[in-house]
Amino acid sequence: FSFRTREAWPLVCAHRGARSIAPENTLAAAKAGLAAGADFWELDVQMTADGELVVHHDDELTRTTDAAVRAELTHLAPYRADALALNEIRQLDAGSWFVDRDPYGTIATGEVEAPDALRGVHVPTLREALIFSRDNAFPVNIEIKDHAGRPGDATVTDKIIDCVRELGMPRMVLLSSFNHGYLRRARELAPEIPRGVLVEGSLPEAPVRYAADLGAAAFHPDHTLLVPILVSAFRAAGIAVNTWTVNGEDRAEELAAMGVNALITDWPQRFVPYLQGWEG
Ligand code: G3P
Ligand code: MG
Repeated sequence: FSFRTREAWPLVCAHRGARSIAPENTLAAAKAGLAAGADFWELDVQMTADGELVVHHDDELTRTTDAAVRAELTHLAPYRADALALNEIRQLDAGSWFVDRDPYGTIATGEVEAPDALRGVHVPTLREALIFSRDNAFPVNIEIKDHAGRPGDATVTDKIIDCVRELGMPRMVLLSSFNHGYLRRARELAPEIPRGVLVEGSLPEAPVRYAADLGAAAFHPDHTLLVPILVSAFRAAGIAVNTWTVNGEDRAEELAAMGVNALITDWPQRFVPYLQGWEG
């Protein structure tokens, strides 16, 4: 995984895939991110009740699938990813909600090619998502969702690493998590896979030293935490700064001027051409 920064602009990462033009955390969203020219994509991983790894963001499956709208599935309520087995999750349609709701208005503007083809797409397994990345030489940031207090807490990191290794992908993956215990565990098990320290809301004390002590290759703050001096301090320490979720072009320019390495955005299809025209 390379944190090269282009001469004049940061790398673009498609957040949950290109979630403004395809249903988030699906292979369709990964494809849309690739087609948009993103440099890499981000996905969220959770463990199912039967110990499988799925690509999914929320605790529940109700917002991004049809779980709660199908009468024959009421026995799956409250539709939590960690309470269901993989074969139950695989019955769900993870695309029609996007087509029906047009959450970003991009179907209306014609930015989504063939929206009806998105109906019926599945919640991918991590393995499927990694195979997509490998086959398309499209690196991926795997965000390990925090399972503290939930099933999977003790094993989620180990299983993700097994999967990455089995597919021979340590150089195409960047692991990140708000649960820094998982990052320590990953360092122990697979020091060759780079790690990014996710933080939101407030900075740890002495943030550069904190990330360096974790052996992190990257710092992943929410973008509101960033000021120029902080970005410079990370860069001087050889730690990349990949920030999220940046959706406004003005803010993207400010962050680019600060020297961030990557912008994690819902709108790679707009950011890639925009940043290519940015003169720094
Ligand atoms: O990994 C960056 C970002 O995805 C973290 O927040 O809630 O979108 O997973 P969230
Ligand atoms: Mg995420």
